[in-house]
Amino acid sequence: MSTVKDAIAAHGGTLINRLASPQQKQDFLSKADSLPRVTLDLRAASDLVMIAIGGFSPLTGFMAQADYDPVVTDMRLASGLPWSVPVTLSVSEAVAEPLTIGRLVRLDDETGRFIGVLELSEKYTYDKKKEAVNVYRTDEDKHPGVKVVYDQGPINLAGDVWLLERDAHPLFPDYQIDPADSRQLFRDRGWQTIVGFQTRNPIHRAHEYIQKCALETVDGLFLHPLVGATKSDDIPADVRMRCYEIMMEHYFPQDRVILAINPSAMRYAGPREAIFHALIRKNYGCTHFIVGRDHAGVGDYYGTYDAQAIFNEFDPGELGITPMKFEHAFYCTRTGTMATTKTSPSKPEERIHLSGTKVRALLREGKMPPPEFSRPEVAKELARAMQTA
Ligand code: ADX
Repeated sequence: MSTVKDAIAAHGGTLINRLASPQQKQDFLSKADSLPRVTLDLRAASDLVMIAIGGFSPLTGFMAQADYDPVVTDMRLASGLPWSVPVTLSVSEAVAEPLTIGRLVRLDDETGRFIGVLELSEKYTYDKKKEAVNVYRTDEDKHPGVKVVYDQGPINLAGDVWLLERDAHPLFPDYQIDPADSRQLFRDRGWQTIVGFQTRNPIHRAHEYIQKCALETVDGLFLHPLVGATKSDDIPADVRMRCYEIMMEHYFPQDRVILAINPSAMRYAGPREAIFHALIRKNYGCTHFIVGRDHAGVGDYYGTYDAQAIFNEFDPGELGITPMKFEHAFYCTRTGTMATTKTSPSKPEERIHLSGTKVRALLREGKMPPPEFSRPEVAKELARAMQTA
């Protein structure tokens, strides 16, 4: 057994493991045809995986109402532990009705494959508008996260889960590093301080700048792109991962940076999701977490630094992971470097920053994003991907 201690405990103190043991798996498989079935959509299926591998510690299953209610209103589980986003299995009345409390339910993915088991402890209704307003800060169905809540079923099924098998990721098996493994990697490398980075966009130079600024003050950088469900106009995960591979090859020191996938789905809940993202990275073993401009935001729903301010709503130490907050970064033509208004004396016209939308528009026109925005190798890869899409 290793004598090196983890730099940080999982949220709630214990890293959860809900992977069925070989014996449990055999038992579940033998019941496969007799159990009632519920089909998980992409988000619920990735939530099941996240629960099973400990990424959502201390959750051991889909939330009961005793946790759901205070999570929605106060960002806390029933135990009082901070938690900012509901993790629910929401189904129609027709699906919920025949299920019996206390019995096992077979969980299938969208292709009908048996992937997990739920021990049903509760069925409850919930107020969608209340969830939207509290968690997403809007009740507009144009918001992609709110739309998911409005479209999903009105009954939440709660209970502990088991994942039948931890399958290798079909696209990124080499980057599938689950929380127990990332913790081991950090120990092996002797890292005591590790900063986690969440992203759902192709890497650009502002990302690289804040990642490297953060890395200057800690032992290691954990690049953790989200590869679960995203909205349809986000750049696909395989393209984003290729951009990261290019960056790892050319622009990052291999001994200080680990690239791994985050299998969970985007909620676009801005500030609430920044807390959620930080707690997930704590479970992966990170001591620090980067929160830049409009983290996990969409449209104009959130203020530029709302996702930073929300961390002040918790007492120091309660979250157990330290946010590293960065201002909006840009390329400064006056100093010829990446910077923020904290470090650059530039006037607005001396700052180059492009929105994702602008970059996508450039790429669609067959134009490359400028080197002040993207590393050229990354720009080339994006252009190639957009042309073949
Ligand atoms: S997110 O939805 O995952 O937050 P994105 O991949 O764009 O979207 O951002 C990843 C992280 O980088 C977030 O913490 C975000 O706040 C930060 N970020 C993105 N662009 C900038 C920028 N120009 N300046 C500062 N931080 C940024």
